[in-house]
Amino acid sequence: MNDKINSLLSRVEAFASKIPSEVEAFRVEMLGKKGLITLLMEEFKTVPSEQKREFGQRLNALKSRALERVAELKELSDGVAGEATPLSRDATRPGTTQPLGSRHPISIVMNRIIATFARLGYVIAEGPEIEDDYHVFGALNFPPEHPARDMQDTFFIQRDPDILLRTHTSSNQVRAMETQQPPIRVVCPGRVFRNEAISYRAHCIFHQVEGLYVDEGVSFADMKQSILYFAKEFFGEGATIRMRPSYFPFTEPSAEVDVSCNLCGGKGCNVCKGTGWLEIMGCGMVDPNVLRNCGIDPERYSGFAFGMGVERIAMLLYGVKDLRLYFENDVRFLSQFQSAL
Ligand code: DAH
Repeated sequence: MNDKINSLLSRVEAFASKIPSEVEAFRVEMLGKKGLITLLMEEFKTVPSEQKREFGQRLNALKSRALERVAELKELSDGVAGEATPLSRDATRPGTTQPLGSRHPISIVMNRIIATFARLGYVIAEGPEIEDDYHVFGALNFPPEHPARDMQDTFFIQRDPDILLRTHTSSNQVRAMETQQPPIRVVCPGRVFRNEAISYRAHCIFHQVEGLYVDEGVSFADMKQSILYFAKEFFGEGATIRMRPSYFPFTEPSAEVDVSCNLCGGKGCNVCKGTGWLEIMGCGMVDPNVLRNCGIDPERYSGFAFGMGVERIAMLLYGVKDLRLYFENDVRFLSQFQSAL
């Protein structure tokens, strides 16, 4: 027994391979179920009892030394080329990159709309989301009994009928006209709030970009050309627009603008419901009452205004069919959008 222990001990000390598969084979040979040391432990049972103490200690020392040696060599073997090595130890592995965030599709579209009008000389005009009745309705020529003031559409703050969440960013147009004299060219991006049931096509929070141009001699033709420019920049050179008569209290005449469907090229598809046209915004010539309310002389100046829903434009642009996706902030959805803007 003594000789066996000695010879195994010297084998353990002499073994020096750093190749993982060899270290493992050595471990099995020594310490496996049928390993030499394991068998020796079995044999120990037959040792006369007066020698048990001595051999017991020597055997235990041999086993610990063997375990220690195997552990040492495994440690040293990490990173040896040509062998499977633990991933944490492979110095040649590329580092983990931090995933780059992407801009929200609504921000991307909003920034593009702003950038398009910026090329026509428009600057950004912002204002508060919590507004007073005057800036959202009163100054914009909404008669007191106008249905849009109804509780159905508007969120009021603390039961005070004068303080509310803006239902459109036209309130910023009012603020711009109150504080500046023409020429005024502003775009008003921002969040708006309406008391609507949430569905695939409506939400109680959404985003708008509205625009306003007031100067001497601004005409309907100027408006049409500016909006056509926007449509071409946004939906492609081939895009055309048409205007349908409409009504807004703050513009006269007013129109709804449709752009030729960019998906079917005007032939008719399920997105444009077979019409070949997609509604993108409302617009009109600023009502003289509104100019007067804001301290601008309607005898001298005229202007046009327009307003569009950013979610709607984004849906048309990206072919997203459910508006709620924009609010859920699921990264699997958001990371599909990339933009330089
Ligand atoms: N404010 C309108 C809305 O919320 C959109 C709009 C229409 C804005 C015509 C305008 C405009 O400035 O001239 O639906």
